[in-house]
Amino acid sequence: MTSIDTNTAATDPSLWWKQAVVYQVYPRSFKDTTGSGLGDIAGVTAKIPYLKELGVDAIWLSPFYPSQLADGGYDVDDYRNVDPKLGTMADFDELAQTAHAAGIRIVVDIVPNHSSNQHEWFKAAVAGGPGSPERDRYIFRDGKGPNGDQPPTDWIASFGGPAWTRVPDGQWYLHMFTKEQPDWNWKNPEVRADFIRTLRFWLDHGADGFRVDVAHGLAKDLERDDLDDFTIIGDDMSATDGTHPLYDRNEVHDIYREWRKVFNEYNPPAFAVAEAWVHPSRQYLYASTDELGQVFNFEFAKMDWIRDSFHTAIEEGLAAAERSGSTSTWVMSNHDVPRHASRYGLPQVPSSSHHQLAKDWLLRDGTSYTEDREKGSRRARAAILMELALPGSAYVYQGEELGLPEVADIPWDQLEDPTAFHRVRNQSEKGRDGCRVPLPWVAADTSADGGTFGFSPAAKVAGAGVTASEAGQPAEKPHLPQPAWFADYAADKEDSDPASMLNLYRKALQLRHTMMPTDTSLTWLDEDRSSDLPDGADGQRGGVIAYRRSNGWASITNFSMSPADLPEGTILLASGPLTDDGLLPQDTTVWMSLN
Ligand code: GLC
Repeated sequence: MTSIDTNTAATDPSLWWKQAVVYQVYPRSFKDTTGSGLGDIAGVTAKIPYLKELGVDAIWLSPFYPSQLADGGYDVDDYRNVDPKLGTMADFDELAQTAHAAGIRIVVDIVPNHSSNQHEWFKAAVAGGPGSPERDRYIFRDGKGPNGDQPPTDWIASFGGPAWTRVPDGQWYLHMFTKEQPDWNWKNPEVRADFIRTLRFWLDHGADGFRVDVAHGLAKDLERDDLDDFTIIGDDMSATDGTHPLYDRNEVHDIYREWRKVFNEYNPPAFAVAEAWVHPSRQYLYASTDELGQVFNFEFAKMDWIRDSFHTAIEEGLAAAERSGSTSTWVMSNHDVPRHASRYGLPQVPSSSHHQLAKDWLLRDGTSYTEDREKGSRRARAAILMELALPGSAYVYQGEELGLPEVADIPWDQLEDPTAFHRVRNQSEKGRDGCRVPLPWVAADTSADGGTFGFSPAAKVAGAGVTASEAGQPAEKPHLPQPAWFADYAADKEDSDPASMLNLYRKALQLRHTMMPTDTSLTWLDEDRSSDLPDGADGQRGGVIAYRRSNGWASITNFSMSPADLPEGTILLASGPLTDDGLLPQDTTVWMSLN
């Protein structure tokens, strides 16, 4: 075997994030320790040994702040606290300590584009009236028309419905998401200062960094006459000059340069990753070293199992990272997209943007378009090996390591996602709850027996969301219903099956730690080729993705119906069996050490 470099984290602790595996926890659906039906912070602490064994470098916690849950917690009532339904600050401190003791970093989600309408400052803004300093912290405007009863613009918010809502004194406030999520006015110095306070608060409580929600949305310019020329969903994201009134304005970068100064006061400097849905040519700005440092690359999350799409995404992702002086990120699933084990088991559409087919499938409760779970799982196994040998950071979404498919048939009246009920009148979209169903930990604790697959205890325990007098009563049902087939994917069942998805992830992460070179170069191998074969039965085209890292660590994935040759070398790990002749079958990846 060629020489093996130590990994980046080992050589410079301040750069741990450059090629890390970051595991996303959606806390309300991870593990409930009290029987409230909602996952809690103590549940994350309880599962640190599981995460350690899995081999992740960091966990990113989706919002766990006090929230009325108009948008799954991305509507924050109080940025410097834990939702009492999820625990206390002491629980957070214990989590940070336990994670650090296990060598796992903590990344918290910060939501700076909007608060919730239950935030103290929003209530003060409504009470303060037009022209008050309290109102200036948000974006209030007079309406149009003789009585001002028309919204200031005709913009539609992200989850449907108007982007402006009227308050009793007649003014309107802007919300790019639900009406419970008023947008902050980042021109207001108090808002800026308060967020700096929040950043320091979490860093002082042991957080190692931040995932920055809607990072491209903060700076806005509404002092202009042409606002009606813009619609705010979908289009105009391609503006590349920083002049769109709402998104990716040049001034947004001043905010992050200010944050970076705060981050650099810490040792090691705090880490941050931007969620910025901007034109690829502008993404590098967020990732530059004097700003947030890293930006999500969502290309894998958007695409079907098509060789050429992945190949282009890899080339572009690496080029963009180089431009920013950062490393790339790879994301197949998160809390906003249908789980990839299901996406890959549906008919594949090369040009599908934002997986429209998967959305249609959800809309039909998974009853039309046949989901081939076996195929989806085989491809998900191949995909994770292809992803984990790439230079840069991999973001793994909770349950992905169990190979969980999307739950497509949650009844409409049990959905929580505003995407579903803001558009429910025409039932145009079912939303994101199918990937947010509470995790199955124990196969035997089936929902048929009133169990929760070990998500919740059988009886309530005093703690997060449960009072002392309620202790001993039967637990609440999980906040989203778990299907009976979750038993097949339960962590304990997969733990004891050497061939399970969980054990593949464990082996892959372990090997990644030993194999990951410090440099981020990638070389395409001779075996790498575009489709030269007939289309597969479901429209999938063939081809091979084959690359090597500087130390000879190689990953080869076959998308084609015909088995592919492998280069000379030693096989380290395979996502599935090879053919009897030692060839690589369709939808399979091997890791090799090349001679
Ligand atoms: C981000 C989050 C998403 C949320 C939205 C509004 O896109 O990932 O879940 O709905 O921001 O905060």
